Amino acid sequence: MLGHGRDLATERGVECPGDLPAPSDPDLVARARAARATLGDRAFVLGHHYQRDEVIEFADVTGDSFKLAKEAAARPDAEYVVFCGVHFMAESADILTADSQTVVLPDLAAGCSMADMAAIDQVEECWDELAEAGVADVTVPVTYMNSSAAIKAFTGRHGGTVCTSSNARTALTWALDRAGSGGKVLFLPDQHLGRNTYARDLGGALEDCVVWDPHRPMGGLTAEQLRAATMILWRGHCSVHGRFSVEAVQAARRDIPDVRIIVHPECRHEVVELADEVGSTERIIRTISAAPPGTAWAVGTELNLVRRLAAQFPEQRIAFLEKNVCYCSTMNRIDLPHLVWALESLVDGRVVNAIRVEEQVAHWARVALDQMLALPGETSRD
Ligand code: 13P
Ligand code: SF4
Repeated sequence: MLGHGRDLATERGVECPGDLPAPSDPDLVARARAARATLGDRAFVLGHHYQRDEVIEFADVTGDSFKLAKEAAARPDAEYVVFCGVHFMAESADILTADSQTVVLPDLAAGCSMADMAAIDQVEECWDELAEAGVADVTVPVTYMNSSAAIKAFTGRHGGTVCTSSNARTALTWALDRAGSGGKVLFLPDQHLGRNTYARDLGGALEDCVVWDPHRPMGGLTAEQLRAATMILWRGHCSVHGRFSVEAVQAARRDIPDVRIIVHPECRHEVVELADEVGSTERIIRTISAAPPGTAWAVGTELNLVRRLAAQFPEQRIAFLEKNVCYCSTMNRIDLPHLVWALESLVDGRVVNAIRVEEQVAHWARVALDQMLALPGETSRD
């Protein structure tokens, strides 16, 4: 969703491309196929699980953000990595690929409202205030993949790491260990993933968590509260997953016999607590695909994925957990016209919407991403 009513495309300095094909063009699929075939091995197309069907059809690999980051890093021969996902994912791909490779995001307005909830200036200010409170030197920053490259660089500079929903438990265990006894983790920008990982996966106490509000002096906290806390959670959330409710879980349990509730860890803690299974998009797919036929599921994640799961596994009974939740509108920005436009431009020798992270930022962000990729058993919980 486009958070705060801002137009990300305008903010990122791009105009809507004039030569975008019309969505009604009956030849769009044929055009995409032809451009894809012409590019051959020169291009590699990555597709996040939340992408539209019309786009995912053209992905060489689909995955969650962890898998896609690894896939991007594992394609050194592809001249172009076309990223069908959102901006922070494409930035990470640019950081993890060689300078000779170009990452293309078919629509630059495909941002992430959660990532936009933490600006680098706010994070730097937070760190200064933690220093004033005397806790910065015992705090290890961990940022969720859903954050800007500048924030990943911040965590790299301060000895922290990046995590995704599939390795948050390992990353947090590593960070708490690194922080040592009495140490703390500053978890950015998703308070829910931080809280769920600490309290549900690691068995930590909710009272050890405080929420840092970037719009208030000292995050709205006292130095004493900061000193007593183990988890300093940034006040950010996903505008899609934040809408799944306890009432929806209760209704699913009431209305669907033997239902299993499976949700993404970006959901609120009270929702996650009531679920039977919690995991990244990749884990949700794997869990459902491995279940016996006839299993009933209520799934709390983005709607494109849930609809695709229902179509792919007709032998299972798959329902969307909450009627009032809509698609992730920024993921949906990547549609077939944008993909065709990006691919045909590459065929014509024009690179459009290249994502390039400035060198100094990329250096430190890579330190943090490499730290994530080096975590022990980093795929253990996906
Ligand atoms: P995954 O890493 O689980 O795919 O999640 C990415 C995301 O943006 C979820 O909202
Ligand atoms: Fe961002 Fe939420 Fe969309 Fe994921 S679903 S890309 S966290 S807004």
